[in-house]
Amino acid sequence: GENMLWGGRFTGGLDPLMVAYNESIHFDKHLFKQDILGSIAFARANQKGGILTADEFSKIEAGLREVMKEWEDGSFKIVPGVDEDIHTANERRLGEIIGKDVAGKLHTGRSRNEQVACDMRMWLRDELRKIDAHLVTFLQITTDRAEREVAHVMPGYTHLQRAQPIRWSHWVMSYGLAFATDLERLRETVRRVNRSPLGCGALAGNPFGIDRDMMARELGFEGLLWNSMGGVADRDFVAEELQWAAMLMQHVSRWAEDLIIYSTAEFGFVRLADAYSTGSSLMPQKKNPDSLELLRGKSGRVLGQMCGFMTTLKGLPSTYNKDLQESWEVMLDSVKTVSDSIQIATGVLATLEIKPEKMRAALDPFMLATDIADYLVRKGVPFRETHHISGRVVALSEQTGTPMNELTYDQLKSVDARFDKDIADYFDYERSVEMRSAKGGTSKACVLEQIAVMRQMLKSK
Ligand code: ARG
Repeated sequence: GENMLWGGRFTGGLDPLMVAYNESIHFDKHLFKQDILGSIAFARANQKGGILTADEFSKIEAGLREVMKEWEDGSFKIVPGVDEDIHTANERRLGEIIGKDVAGKLHTGRSRNEQVACDMRMWLRDELRKIDAHLVTFLQITTDRAEREVAHVMPGYTHLQRAQPIRWSHWVMSYGLAFATDLERLRETVRRVNRSPLGCGALAGNPFGIDRDMMARELGFEGLLWNSMGGVADRDFVAEELQWAAMLMQHVSRWAEDLIIYSTAEFGFVRLADAYSTGSSLMPQKKNPDSLELLRGKSGRVLGQMCGFMTTLKGLPSTYNKDLQESWEVMLDSVKTVSDSIQIATGVLATLEIKPEKMRAALDPFMLATDIADYLVRKGVPFRETHHISGRVVALSEQTGTPMNELTYDQLKSVDARFDKDIADYFDYERSVEMRSAKGGTSKACVLEQIAVMRQMLKSK
């Protein structure tokens, strides 16, 4: 008990399992840097407020930088059972280096409640900015591929059934734009994460008139949390990161699922690079899309973390409760999972080989049935009627065993007299995609326009 921060009041020792259950040092040690920078900013503000002398401040700052060096070179020794978390560990070590008399003044007016929120927000802000850069790289590859490969046409699916011809690049951009929207959300989230709780105290505020703006500026925050109770208790920034991650991974998962399907022998539209596939220990012919399966699989983990943490939060009384310590591990793990996943997806996409001839071979004349209906619409026939006529053409093709595009002119005429010779032009996949030329469609110009729109989104921070 004596070394513990609150040892003044507690005399009996903790149950050893409780010590282990309570400690967070094994994961919050990763935020040693943020914790130390936060302490330096706090001490500097306390010096400005006359709480610390200039000499005390420089001792504290030098000592803290020494502690930082120990973490960086790996010489910091965590004292099990004493160093409950990163805040206690750093202060314990500071006391050993500069003496307890001065070190004991660092925590004046401060609470671990504000420290932990400050550390986590700084860390998350920095990590989300790295993720922003990874996502931008992924999206640049997405747009480059889409531009380069815009000529290739393949089946588009609904219900996983062949529906209408689309450009391969239209598929690429359908996900690309979803990810670009995730990027927009990310940038908004970072702004809300990057607000300073420092100076909120345990819950009621700082009694020494500390300059919160000065600390916020030093630590790179873009604003303050304006209520001290909320400032220490708010973990919405973690929840928001998890929600964001769950949304992104939902997209990653579906993107991966499509590519898994497209990489089967039955489809064969794409071939995964060896760097992102594995073999089978038993079946020599196998090449498994493990990277894509892991992307799909890990989306479940991230979604679970989001649900789990929201559940942790929902019944808490205000303000700080130890339940909040549960925010760390999901934050650390989800950030790593998302960061790794985006980089893996980038590698997969950058090295993916496409098989345009397989895409083309999978096109089926029935996929032009809508175009046949649209042909008659242009002759003034109501669409509801043309839909039936086109359906009868499909039926005739099935009955006679003749591909729809090989039916004779007379056969078509027998279905409906309004078919003219120019119907032959409509049995053309390229023409079909080029007809979809309203904004957002699969014509070449429209796909190129989407690419331009997305490149613009990448630029606007
Ligand atoms: N390790 C704690 C956490 O991560 C730090 C805050 C402790 N505060 C307290 N009042 N016990 O949440």
